[in-house]
Amino acid sequence: ASTTEQDGFDALIAADGRIEPRDWMPDGYRKTLIRQIAQHGHSEIIGMQPEGNWITRAPSLRRKAILLAKVQDEAGHGLYLYSAAETLGMSREEMLDLLHAGRQKYSSIFNYPTPTWADVAAIGWLVDGAAITNQVPLTRCSYGPYARAMVRICKEESFHQRQGFESLLALSNGTPEQHAMAQDAIDRWWWPSLMMFGPPDENSPNSAQSSAWGIKRFSNDELRQRFVDICVPQAETLGLTLPDTDLRWNAERNHYDFGVIDWTEFHEILKGNGPCNRQRVATRRQAHADGAWVREAAAEYAAKQAAREGS
Ligand code: ACO
Repeated sequence: ASTTEQDGFDALIAADGRIEPRDWMPDGYRKTLIRQIAQHGHSEIIGMQPEGNWITRAPSLRRKAILLAKVQDEAGHGLYLYSAAETLGMSREEMLDLLHAGRQKYSSIFNYPTPTWADVAAIGWLVDGAAITNQVPLTRCSYGPYARAMVRICKEESFHQRQGFESLLALSNGTPEQHAMAQDAIDRWWWPSLMMFGPPDENSPNSAQSSAWGIKRFSNDELRQRFVDICVPQAETLGLTLPDTDLRWNAERNHYDFGVIDWTEFHEILKGNGPCNRQRVATRRQAHADGAWVREAAAEYAAKQAAREGS
């Protein structure tokens, strides 16, 4: 890079401006964004599986229509994110190949099973709630296409979070069996949701540089704390208990204190050893192979249209 290019980039970041696809950017900035946006896109796509599991078994037509719309939204989010990553020079095919080869990550959270209907509700409340907490600040991230993609995604995630809350409230106020099912789902999803924010700040290798570049606006621990503070009163309204005996208000800090997260579990999941890692990746690979004819047909059709327009 010439000094003027680097200086121009640094000045734009210092002025809290937005970097656009055609602007010069350091290689590291480009790589970090591709890594994060691809991982984010893959999470949306893999994230369709745990809930998709319940579409054919939703307890009513209304719940089924809501769930279908929600899972379809996740597919849309994946596509906006892949498009944002493509502006940085990596094709969607390449990203998918890297995902299928286990060389690009997706969120740890989607490696847990959804054995009951209450899991769908718990995912909406906790997983989508954690996602919004992490993603609202990303609407102000320094890379324009990523920041703009986040605006619509956050609006849709907020609908998802509310539908999860409403569904949990119905279960919690239902029969004793339904209440117990809701509580069991919260017991299983609470801690993994806290892990979504990533490792503690002192073990987060990418944080310092991503913050300096204006990609991250808050640290992993700051966002995790914000999420805990939001969830405690909501759990009270739901009549459900968060499974942490250390959870209590700390008037000095003006935050809730909470217990110790099992980071061994998190690292095992990142290594591919979570309860559903193998199943998630195998299903994704199979879906990709099954969709080959659709991609071929679409490409053929596009080529025909282009030839027709050219003639
Ligand atoms: N699941 C899987 N991997 C994770 C997770 C997680 N929950 N949290 C952190 N990691 C990985 C990081 O990707 C990084 O690995 P890498 O260097 O090989 O890419 C490593 O753990 C160390 O973490 P950090 O240094 O803290 O990484 P980073 O600065 O990228 O912060 C974070 C992680 C907060 C997840 C960030 O990437 C981010 O904000 N991503 C966008 C949001 C997102 O991906 N959401 C997906 C789930 S929500 C949904 O889709 C509904």
